[in-house]
Amino acid sequence: MTESGYQDREQSELKHYAIKLYLEAAARILGSAWNLKYVDCCAGPWNSTKSDYSDTSFGIAFEVLRAAREELSSRSWAPQVACLFIEKEMAPFSELDAFAKAKNSPDLRVRAENWDFAERMDEIVRYCSSPRTFPFILIDPWGWKLAGISQISPLLKLKRGEVVINLMSSFITRFVNDNATDLSDLLGKDFPELRRLSGSEREFAVVRKYCDLIKREGDFAYVCALPVMKPDSDAFNFYLIYATRHPKGVDVFKRVEKRTEERTQVVRADVQKRQRQERTGNFELFEPDVQYRERKYQQLATDNRGRAQRQILDHLKMAGDVPYDDCWAEALQYSAVYQSDLRSWIDAWEKEGTVLVKGRKFPTELLKRDCGHLLAYRGESVLT
Ligand SMILES: C[S@@+](CC[C@H](N)C(=O)[O-])C[C@H]1O[C@@H](n2cnc3c(N)ncnc32)[C@H](O)[C@@H]1O
Repeated sequence: MTESGYQDREQSELKHYAIKLYLEAAARILGSAWNLKYVDCCAGPWNSTKSDYSDTSFGIAFEVLRAAREELSSRSWAPQVACLFIEKEMAPFSELDAFAKAKNSPDLRVRAENWDFAERMDEIVRYCSSPRTFPFILIDPWGWKLAGISQISPLLKLKRGEVVINLMSSFITRFVNDNATDLSDLLGKDFPELRRLSGSEREFAVVRKYCDLIKREGDFAYVCALPVMKPDSDAFNFYLIYATRHPKGVDVFKRVEKRTEERTQVVRADVQKRQRQERTGNFELFEPDVQYRERKYQQLATDNRGRAQRQILDHLKMAGDVPYDDCWAEALQYSAVYQSDLRSWIDAWEKEGTVLVKGRKFPTELLKRDCGHLLAYRGESVLT
């Protein structure tokens, strides 16, 4: 077993890494104005090897919220912070309940419930609806059925709150062809149309469709999808779908996505090195990243940059002056696309004369949200 305790389930390591980074930032931002509630709908523990549960989503969330509360309390406003951890199966629930009882305190209320979360929507909604409260919801089931829109709709419709859902894209993409499987609750009634697509096009469409339905159901302004790769093959395992109503949330989550992308390379390079050594029996002197191989993520990034550029140019062609903020929102909801990409495209479009930028206060001003920058389409490039 590796020191991290995640050997052979490195995808969970990456998931936990992303959840931790997101909660650390979000709790500090939102906890300075709101009381916080955190609900883990499928808490486990599942395959935990650490006695302090520091390798579980609930153990990580508790520790992050405890630290955030402590830090915020030293400032003027001390938010009330509480956690609800839900687990359906009795054996893991017993462990979860013992954890909750040990950690519960007047400063940070921790409660575990032996519930099927899908059957307890009213209670969860009531829990999240106390005054001046901002809820974070994590939905991380096995498989994909419990991620269906009708199953989780009341949580999406909470007036305030952010939701992270584990979408098992690798299963779903395979099941699209199976006539016996109805994916309409996940991907809409027209999901059979996805059968026309194959490979990464289909995978992209599955994730995009789900994000669109989540956005519509919860009236979210932004939904992002953070890809998590399989540790030992060049493929995606699942996506963390993140829904928010605030652009600041997108800022935070895209930073999380970037750091998770970097962490993915480290974790997968280690796995590949371990596998090579097991195969050959040779001890390697190189750092693991020297021989790191990966194509899938790079392909997604290239494809999504192309998709985002086309979408923005189409939008600019149809509209008059378009706020930079709208282009930012369109671009960043594509996985593996970042603000630096958007700025470099606009820079190139400006240079070739395709797009005019208005509203800069001085010629070298960096394009940013909330600064009144506008983009206008001027016609096909004179260079192409
Ligand atoms: C993937 S594991 C969760 C892992 C955990 N979130 C983590 O990252 O450490 C899924 C857990 O959800 C539980 N579960 C499945 N269906 C559930 C339901 N309807 N309600 C509550 N828990 C459920 C399973 O028993 C299992 O412990």
